Amino acid sequence: MKKVIILGSNGQLGQTVKRFTDIEPGEFQFFSRKELDITDKKSLIGVFKDSGFDYCINCAAYTNVEGAETHTEDAFSINAEGAKNIAEVCNIYQVKLIHISTDYVFDGNKEKPYTTAETTNPINQYGKSKLQGELYIKAQLNAYYIIRTSWLYSLHGKNFLKTIIGKIESGASLNITTEENGTPTSCIDLAAFILHIIKTDSVPYGIYNFSAKGSTTWYGFAKEIVKNLSPENSSMITPTDSFKTVAKRPKFSVLNLDKTEEFYKELNTWQESVRLMVSSYKSQIS
Ligand SMILES: NC(=O)c1ccc[n+]([C@@H]2O[C@H](COP(=O)([O-])OP(=O)(O)OC[C@H]3O[C@@H](n4cnc5c(N)ncnc54)[C@H](OP(=O)(O)O)[C@@H]3O)[C@@H](O)[C@H]2O)c1
Repeated sequence: MKKVIILGSNGQLGQTVKRFTDIEPGEFQFFSRKELDITDKKSLIGVFKDSGFDYCINCAAYTNVEGAETHTEDAFSINAEGAKNIAEVCNIYQVKLIHISTDYVFDGNKEKPYTTAETTNPINQYGKSKLQGELYIKAQLNAYYIIRTSWLYSLHGKNFLKTIIGKIESGASLNITTEENGTPTSCIDLAAFILHIIKTDSVPYGIYNFSAKGSTTWYGFAKEIVKNLSPENSSMITPTDSFKTVAKRPKFSVLNLDKTEEFYKELNTWQESVRLMVSSYKSQIS
């Protein structure tokens, strides 16, 4: 039976992983930011020492893309130095690290999905801090999985799907951008892939892309949410090509899934995963 530590367990991915582990065999120990701060290496050592963990899942991150432009030190302290601390501690105690990274390590100037071998060139502080975290991990460890994912959503915490549902239910009309192309990814799908890595214990170490199949814009994503939630409200969503943000965003950040599909056959289309998530939301409120 594997012994697994999960960091950042109160985030949307952390909470989703927690739900899965209720039904998976293994010993899972969850730590929220309050319980274990990844910027505090001494505390990490205190928890890892003598623990016998086989895997560490790092769901902890500074994820406010807009905030990272002004709170750049915080973003680097958590996404870069925090990741470095975890890698160092995993190295000392021989723990395999599963770390989550982002499509925002790319500049978005391509028009074909990014493979894991593609050159990185982040264009905002969040992406830069996440890339620095990746580099620290690679420098420190052989036994790592860096999973780059995109546009995460769930029924936990803050995310685009929950924002759209909230706005539509309050009767607000919305202008949503068509400027960016990417792939919405359900935390449930990503959590299943993470647990597949642990269960099989045979996926080769390295960088993986993980998203649903296909791609869309934020406008397309919003339309799909409303189509499943309350199709009669579809006209409340209108497209716009100008949406002002503080942080620059890659115009195209679709991830190539070929390498992941060699080891994992369960990828959904993004539309199917949105349908399942909205249906789960509806059954929760009914
Ligand atoms: N959200 C997306 O669209 C997206 C897209 C691509 C990649 N990712 C990556 O996917 C991963 C999971 O993201 P998510 O959406 O689940 O993020 P999230 O909901 O913002 O959760 C992040 C968690 O990390 C915790 N945290 C922050 N600083 C910490 C620290 N110093 N020590 C310990 N915990 C700390 C936060 O705690 P507090 O709540 O107390 O601050 C929060 O619970 C992250 O690595 C993120 O970069 C996310």
